[in-house]
Amino acid sequence: MANYSHLHPEALKLIERDAESRIIWISNRRWIGYPQAAAILKKLDRLLVHPRQTRMPNMLIVGNTNNGKSNLVDKFVGRNLPDENPCGEHIVCPVLKIETPPSPTEASIYSEILGKLFERDPASSTNAKRMRVIKVLREIQLKILVIDDLHNMLAGTSVRQQQSLNMLKYLGNELQISIVGCGTGDLLRAVSIDPQIQNRFPPEFLPKWEMNKEFLQLLMSFERLLPLRQQSALHERPLAAKALSMCEGYIGELSMLLNSSAEYAIESGEERITAEIMNNCGYLPPSERTRMASRI
Ligand SMILES: Nc1ncnc2c1ncn2[C@@H]1O[C@H](COP(=O)(O)OP(=O)(O)O)[C@@H](O)[C@H]1O
Ligand SMILES: [Mg+2]
Repeated sequence: MANYSHLHPEALKLIERDAESRIIWISNRRWIGYPQAAAILKKLDRLLVHPRQTRMPNMLIVGNTNNGKSNLVDKFVGRNLPDENPCGEHIVCPVLKIETPPSPTEASIYSEILGKLFERDPASSTNAKRMRVIKVLREIQLKILVIDDLHNMLAGTSVRQQQSLNMLKYLGNELQISIVGCGTGDLLRAVSIDPQIQNRFPPEFLPKWEMNKEFLQLLMSFERLLPLRQQSALHERPLAAKALSMCEGYIGELSMLLNSSAEYAIESGEERITAEIMNNCGYLPPSERTRMASRI
């Protein structure tokens, strides 16, 4: 048997399979832990066990788009799935994640919450929706409301912004829950208009990746999960530097680059990722895509 010591047991399971099934497997979602994600998950765990009180601690998770915010909160949600609570009247749902709806208003956010819980949505008034949301979230004993892409909620006129911020404060105070918002740098600018919110929503950052020990470790983790029969040694300098410059520091781009490269490596029979394969696999770095778009 060949030496596959470069692989994770999960990748090892299918390494002898044909090209087709390995390529399909590559596009599966996967979670790779890294130090900053672990640190934020630990803080989220702490929020979850925080005793209820009038002023609950909150959190913002701030980072560029495509740098792992949604994946991180999904991981947290996945670890805290609702309990069917067969003996009780309601499910027990400690963590609920919603997306910011397009053209967000107070009413549409309440509808989003009710929709996520498959609850009846009173079509009548914002007031009715608000009352229903409070009632339902109390019944399921919510502890943390995660709002993804919160920067979209806080876009728009300053009146709108203030309304959204007031809603967050209201939900937090009324239900004694923590609110976790994910967003880009715009989110930080938006909350800065309300000092009370700014103080109560400390930011945690997912910065762009740089060339350091953590990045090399990340490359090793990716390599272990790509079902290639030869070792690529992605963490060795020239290849690591090339990967970083192509992905421009975003984990989502790195994932796309390595997936495309791995597919190409399988199809071509090379069975490992090289600089040449990164160039030829069809992946375009984000700034290259922007440049192409501007020429059309
Ligand atoms: N921890 C992780 N492990 C593996 N891949 C990840 C991880 N975090 C992000 N990714 C990849 O990056 C992509 C973008 O991540 P996402 O969380 O959607 O970014 P954001 O919400 O910041 O825009 C994901 O689709 C996934 O391919
Ligand atoms: Mg996202």
